[in-house]
Amino acid sequence: MSGETRTPADELPPGPDGLPVVGSAVASIRGGLDFSERMAREYGDIVHWEEPRGHVYQLNHPDDIEHVLVQNNQRYEKGEGFQKVLGPLLGNGILNSEGEEWRRNRRLVQPSFHPDRIQVYAGMMTDLTATMLEAWDDGETFSIHDEMMELTLRIVTKALFGVDIDEYVDEIESAINAFLPATSSLPNVLLPADVPLPSRRRMAKARETLDRVVDGIVRQKKRSPGEHDVISMLLEARDEQGNPLGENQIRDEAITLLTAGHETTAVSLTYTVFVLAQHPKVEAKLVDELDRVLDGDRPTMADVPNLTYTERIVKESMRLYPPVPRIVRESVQPDVIGGYRVPTGSQIMMNQWVVHRDSRWYDDPLAFEPERWTGEFERSLPRLAYFPFAAGPRRCIGDRFAMLEARLILAMLYQQYHFELVSDRSIEVVPTVTSRPKEVIVVTIHER
Ligand code: HEM
Repeated sequence: MSGETRTPADELPPGPDGLPVVGSAVASIRGGLDFSERMAREYGDIVHWEEPRGHVYQLNHPDDIEHVLVQNNQRYEKGEGFQKVLGPLLGNGILNSEGEEWRRNRRLVQPSFHPDRIQVYAGMMTDLTATMLEAWDDGETFSIHDEMMELTLRIVTKALFGVDIDEYVDEIESAINAFLPATSSLPNVLLPADVPLPSRRRMAKARETLDRVVDGIVRQKKRSPGEHDVISMLLEARDEQGNPLGENQIRDEAITLLTAGHETTAVSLTYTVFVLAQHPKVEAKLVDELDRVLDGDRPTMADVPNLTYTERIVKESMRLYPPVPRIVRESVQPDVIGGYRVPTGSQIMMNQWVVHRDSRWYDDPLAFEPERWTGEFERSLPRLAYFPFAAGPRRCIGDRFAMLEARLILAMLYQQYHFELVSDRSIEVVPTVTSRPKEVIVVTIHER
């Protein structure tokens, strides 16, 4: 534990003094990831500051993060801050709920993520990727993020809901594009949840749109239920008294899976294409592996274990550009972390962005080096020095799904194309819920 040398005390960890009333809230929200990095640099493993919502602790040591997410997870919930940001879109679905309700939600959805089911999804993932590639033309220029968002959205709805969503793609994307920036608006973060705000009206509108979409899918499923898809399973689920789930609950779960299940993977693929365009040697090694393992064929589930370099690229990309840049928890019991007292109601920030770029765990941390991901290196890392999918009971339910999808899509993209960045500007990452790039990443594609 990082704080072994400290004595438990009433003393608060070091951190910025902040301004009267708002404390460091404005600096933290405006400063984004730069603020988090500066806090770690200036104050060390545990940083404290005040905000109107109370004490905030930023944890920068993997052992302290493990303490919160794994060993003492029962002392922490997602809390009010999390609800304010994601509650308006996701309601009481698996990502936001707590306690018994969360356990029930997770039990209901879990079968769809069983390794046997995930295998079945591989074919859908490659079919839909092939359809996207067929529509591309040599020399074309486009936003790679938009293409990846559409593809991963089609994949998650086909795999988990058993439906094609051609008619809804634009509506879903514009709802999510309107929602995400609104969540991190200063008034939304600072003011109580019941204060009406323009950003909150935009969030409510996005939810209405997704409700309409999901209602359409549910109607379709009621007419022709599937055997394995999540919606049919939710429609059939009964509680101990034999009652079905409420319509709102089904909507919340479906919207949660739809959004959590595509934005993150799309962001990850976008950054991977971005860094590969800047690392021709890595790209050449990737293409070499694809030629060797696949010999021009479409990848299948059986090929995946042999795509070891492809996997290292995905891992390294999620290290440098973690699709979820930070996790927040609220303490529901008093705790002691690294020797410091943490009162009930404190906000705990754990930044993948900061920990994944810490030179204590990663040599030359800003360099993109897939080669570093040897088995030996992974075993030598502190457990929570790499946590793109979080850890503990609330670890991402879609981690295997996402890793499979990212490898298959990446393989198919680079079997066929070389991607050239249209601008050589560096990018700025905006930490809303995911780490979207601030500027659109535009690429020109060249057939191999
Ligand atoms: C690269 C892709 C992905 C990344 C980096 C990622 C990351 C994460 C992280 C960090 C969490 C924990 C959030 C927290 O505790 O505050 C999480 C939770 C979750 N993710 Fe993912 N995710 C990815 C893909 C997916 C996919 C493909 C799905 C579904 C198809 C999915 C569904 C979920 C759900 C439902 C939860 C909530 C789990 C719970 O609270 O029990 N994710 N994800």
